[in-house]
Amino acid sequence: MSIASWKRRHFVAAALVTVVCGVVIGTLLHPSSVSGQGPVRTAVLNAPLPPPVLGPDIVPLTNVQKLGKFLIYDNTLSDPPGYACATCHIPSTGHTGPSSQVNANAGPQPGVVPGRTGRRKPQTYNYATLSPEGPYFDNVAAAWVGGNFWDGRAPDSAAQALDPLVDPNEMANINQGTSAHPFSPLVVQKIQTRPYSDLFKQEWGPDVFTKYTPQQLYILVGAAMAAFEDSPEVNSFSSKYDASKFGVPPMHKYKLTASEERGRRLFFGNALCSACHSSTGLPVLQAVTNGKDTFTMYCFANIGIPRNPLNPFYQETDCTTNPLGCNALGTNFIDLGLGGNPNPAPNGMKFFHTTLGDIPQFNGLFQAPTVRDVDKRPTPTFVKAYMHNGVFKSLKEVVHFYNTRNLTTSDLPLRGKPSKNPINLTNPTTYAASLGTRKPIWGPPEVLDPTSNLVQTYMGYVTLNNPTGLPPSQGGQVGNLGLTDQQENDIVAFLKILTADFTKPNPIIH
Ligand code: HEC
Ligand code: HEC
Repeated sequence: MSIASWKRRHFVAAALVTVVCGVVIGTLLHPSSVSGQGPVRTAVLNAPLPPPVLGPDIVPLTNVQKLGKFLIYDNTLSDPPGYACATCHIPSTGHTGPSSQVNANAGPQPGVVPGRTGRRKPQTYNYATLSPEGPYFDNVAAAWVGGNFWDGRAPDSAAQALDPLVDPNEMANINQGTSAHPFSPLVVQKIQTRPYSDLFKQEWGPDVFTKYTPQQLYILVGAAMAAFEDSPEVNSFSSKYDASKFGVPPMHKYKLTASEERGRRLFFGNALCSACHSSTGLPVLQAVTNGKDTFTMYCFANIGIPRNPLNPFYQETDCTTNPLGCNALGTNFIDLGLGGNPNPAPNGMKFFHTTLGDIPQFNGLFQAPTVRDVDKRPTPTFVKAYMHNGVFKSLKEVVHFYNTRNLTTSDLPLRGKPSKNPINLTNPTTYAASLGTRKPIWGPPEVLDPTSNLVQTYMGYVTLNNPTGLPPSQGGQVGNLGLTDQQENDIVAFLKILTADFTKPNPIIH
């Protein structure tokens, strides 16, 4: 496999069909201050996570996929040793965080250096290799699409893998490269002495370790890891959904219950989930997956996730011991998503010029993750954290959020009709005015947080999806869906049948 083959997925814009993961553009914001934001609670700084267990192969792996698997489970590659990629991405949770307690207490995971912590929840790496090289602006999706990470800062999975190794809050090797092209000589040294080092020779020749420069060898590490992530062991398309008549190919091994079927109709219909969480709307993506649904469009949207008061990153303020990974803003920290992506898009376009967030139309946009495996957990009581900051702890909470983001407690209990008087989340002023004395069900969107000095950088743009809370009948997407409690439960029931391992892997045939 060549390095270049990892850059192969080049997507051509197809004809415009429907507006799907649309970017909401250009409402005017009048900055003003508003009080009333709840206090940030003291989060628990969790101890480093335990080492992962290397399980048996589920499918026959090619040489390079096998190498990638060994690398991803090698917990000596961090500095100090102790962390592997798989430490934060374990199979039994759908390749996200391994600890129920950390998920419940935080969401973001502790790094290998005690006391350090990341700012985000591990995005699953399942189906990440199918994300188009990006981010690029896609005319069909009417949105930025592609790349890896919540903020799209890696163009593809092979590039992505090189970042956690040198992230000071993750595997903590010293980066002797740049943000866009990281490089750790120590990692390159280590991989040459590991039991799996022969697999490098089998793949790239007996002289691989002398033929290539250390920088090139580091790139091969990422390519091998991405090869494993691209294998049917990870992208397995083996859920009940795939095994039903709706899968590709249709299998009829699983029949949806009445509730799951109602959930399916809502997901692809009135609840509008498929606008962002399905590849069926993007023909270029469907061509790569041979019609199988990735349950994401890999598009970026600002759905207005509130801040996570338990995000331990608020306490990561020690810039003396952790100059490259600290959070100088403390509790004022706002995660800008794509607007804080330090790396330019593949076409050279920048997501900010000189200061984070100074190109306002990117602020608050995060990549819609796949909803495959969102319910995968080792035991029924295991807590998973959802969204980029892990603020939500159950799928019911997630769906209730989509249904009621713009609602107040006076709209409860749910009556199955959209609220006629939704909160206007356009800016802090409209928020306060439209709320009046009513109580919001949710905290305000993180990017609208009036306690932050960064609100000023929005400079008149609102990237939030459906800020005024229009119901779907008037073109609104997120926030005021008018679903009943039962309909929320039906959508949750549908999400649960997207968990892998109901059948054997049912991979894409290339
Ligand atoms: C300390 C925990 C931790 C470790 C160790 C870690 N990750 Fe992650 N991973 C995360 C977090 C957190 C994110 C989301 C980060 C972001 O978007 O900024 C993530 C995101 C990803 C993604 C992006 C998925 C997508 O859909 O775009 C991939 C792929 C991935 N990790 C693979 C790896 C690999 C490969 C390694 C080892 C080289 C690794 N991770 C090590 C926590 C970790
Ligand atoms: C406008 C696009 C859009 C629509 C419509 C949408 N989502 Fe999302 N979804 C996103 C984005 C973007 C994120 C990540 C947001 C973040 O973390 O800030 C997300 C995150 C999620 C997550 C969390 C996954 C994880 O790994 O943490 C779930 C579950 C989810 N969505 C389910 C749904 C359901 C169910 C619906 C329909 C009721 C829906 N979404 C509608 C864009 C969308």
